[in-house]
Amino acid sequence: MFKRLLPMAGHTRGNRSAVTCELKCGNACSNPVPNTSGNETFQQVAERAISRRAALAGGTGLAAAVVIGGQVAQAPEALADNGRPPRGGGKLDFEPIAPVMRTVDDVTVPAGYDWGTIIRWGDPLFADSPEFDIEHQTGASAAAQFGYNCDYLNVISDGGNDRRGYLVSNHEYTNEYIMFSPEYIASHPKDVVDAGIQSHGLSIVDLERTGKGAKWEYVRGGRRNRRITGTTPFRVTGPAAGSDLLKTVEDPTGTRVLGTLNNCAGGTTPWGTVLSGEENFNQYFTGRGTAEEKRYGIGTKPTSRGWENYYDRFDLTNEGYENEAHRFGWIVEVDPEDPTSTPVKHTLLGRFKHEAGTAVLSESGHAVVYSGDDERHDYLYKFVSAKTYRAGDKKHNMSLLDEGTLYVAKFHGDSPEREIDGTGTLPSDGAFDGWGEWIALASHKKSYVPGMSLEEVLVFTRLAADKMGATAMDRPEDVETNPVNGKVYAALTNNTKRTAVDEANPIVGNRDGHVIELTERRGDHTATRFNWVILLLAGDPAVSSSAYFAGYPKELVSPISCPDNVAFDSEGSLWVSTDGQPGTIGYADALHKVTLDGPERGRVQQFLAVPRDAETCGPVIHDRDNSVFVNVQHPGEDGMWGAHTSYFPDFLNPAGPVQVGDDVAAPRPSVVQVFNVTGNNGVGKGSGKEKAGKGKGGHGKGKGPKN
Ligand code: FEO
Ligand code: CA
Ligand code: CA
Repeated sequence: MFKRLLPMAGHTRGNRSAVTCELKCGNACSNPVPNTSGNETFQQVAERAISRRAALAGGTGLAAAVVIGGQVAQAPEALADNGRPPRGGGKLDFEPIAPVMRTVDDVTVPAGYDWGTIIRWGDPLFADSPEFDIEHQTGASAAAQFGYNCDYLNVISDGGNDRRGYLVSNHEYTNEYIMFSPEYIASHPKDVVDAGIQSHGLSIVDLERTGKGAKWEYVRGGRRNRRITGTTPFRVTGPAAGSDLLKTVEDPTGTRVLGTLNNCAGGTTPWGTVLSGEENFNQYFTGRGTAEEKRYGIGTKPTSRGWENYYDRFDLTNEGYENEAHRFGWIVEVDPEDPTSTPVKHTLLGRFKHEAGTAVLSESGHAVVYSGDDERHDYLYKFVSAKTYRAGDKKHNMSLLDEGTLYVAKFHGDSPEREIDGTGTLPSDGAFDGWGEWIALASHKKSYVPGMSLEEVLVFTRLAADKMGATAMDRPEDVETNPVNGKVYAALTNNTKRTAVDEANPIVGNRDGHVIELTERRGDHTATRFNWVILLLAGDPAVSSSAYFAGYPKELVSPISCPDNVAFDSEGSLWVSTDGQPGTIGYADALHKVTLDGPERGRVQQFLAVPRDAETCGPVIHDRDNSVFVNVQHPGEDGMWGAHTSYFPDFLNPAGPVQVGDDVAAPRPSVVQVFNVTGNNGVGKGSGKEKAGKGKGGHGKGKGPKN
């Protein structure tokens, strides 16, 4: 039930769009305390929109100031001192693109590359799935189709077979403003709620292609195809399973949960399963106003989506459902190879707004999982398993996350406090750096937090970390381990409310975010001490005095802001996707390569830009295949039904806004593959184009570089 429709569109605090803030995070950033603004129902908003439409129809119809993208309005190149942008090195050779203005509704890729969609929101997954019918969505149809707002992504080819593989993607949240017409919301409110619930979760989708380097196509009815949604049964594991804190009237055992929500970044484990973090779960619940609920951002007002009007469990004031929100905010594990398997929620990894779940094996064979809690002034965590990995024993390995120790990070700087002045000026030792400690919060046997039981530490992990003096960070987003150098990279996306700085969070009002590089002592991921250094202070070097790129010349890098997801190529270079550049530096969100080693350490080179209002998610770098994959999330987020700001990826009806009943055009969050078309990967120029896209328009305007 949406309290504001189009009038709220805009940008908040120079960052993401207001719609994104409301629907993705429940306004986590702009509201440090729970949002107490009034809420309207879906129906009320829909009725208001219909009235407004009727009024407009009396005049100029729906030609309401919609500017369709496609006009390339790139900023002038300012990347090199020789008049040419430096070429990207490594196996994936490319010339960095110029930053792309935020209004461009296109995917922009380097010269010699093209792009196409692999699968889009609504594409049918099963042989008997209904075709996508945007005007008649139901829970049943959504449960059989690719979900909305894809975030985490991995693309995996089957061992030794270049022509078969699968992808795993999650679906973080829904945007009912552009998924449904106001008329449909008014006439079918429960179908809208059910379609929303079923459009969350994850998808596992079989893929095929003609050979190495070619574009992947999804296989309808593939063996592994599966939707996991907001109602899929999960099994709870770890020490809090069966706790009174997890019991409800629907699940008196405290071990069975329906669904996963707001799944953000994640990771593929060494044993082949997928970990996915439940992030901003708070926004789906109406709470009781307890201190614990407040610490997690659960409000007491009706929610934006109003699921609680149809399902009692989303209203925590209902008797017997007080604990339902305790059953979200976990790391979930899914076995993509077995579509009949019951996915699990791992309580020993703690409950918070999990941004990521990256598992790595230490040299001793222990599984280590890093995860960030994406909230301003929240923390960075890691888990170390008690048992060790056994090659080929998936059953054993899937139990690794049930026994071990959960830690939270405390950062110590090595420069005098007076030298950390909040401006980004480097301290006299030349670096924002220092050491850190992993503070134990709990093991499978005991709590390490005075005054809190083991179950309480796991269910109220934020409060436990508060007590233990963890370092409040500038919104820890993705945290990943570099498979080449073994270091850990954490994206701190921004924190405009940062006032008291420390050496690990050194910018007052940190608008553009930063990236920290952690080195575990002795290179051992099980260590309880680490060293750290800030790799990047993001920003547009043309205007930002604090922008810093590990000492690399500022005038030679691509502008970058709001680092979110991180990934690595086969040579160990870091790839960083962004979420929020349009609102901070005016450019479309992007994917950048960052060199880590040698004299070019800190060199940022932009590889692509995503369409209007979209965020770049889930980068996967297959440089040996000359391919890069991204999830294009929330294209056209600032639009509304009938007045879209993006028509990605099919660009149907680009001449103007659609009328209900027309061949409906709307933006569709999609998995995109960027592939080389110069012929050096076995794909001749043009062949990719024929394969690209699934819709009538193929990939439409995606014709590669515009410069
Ligand atoms: Fe879902 Fe923190 O991004
Ligand atoms: Ca220092
Ligand atoms: Ca994210």
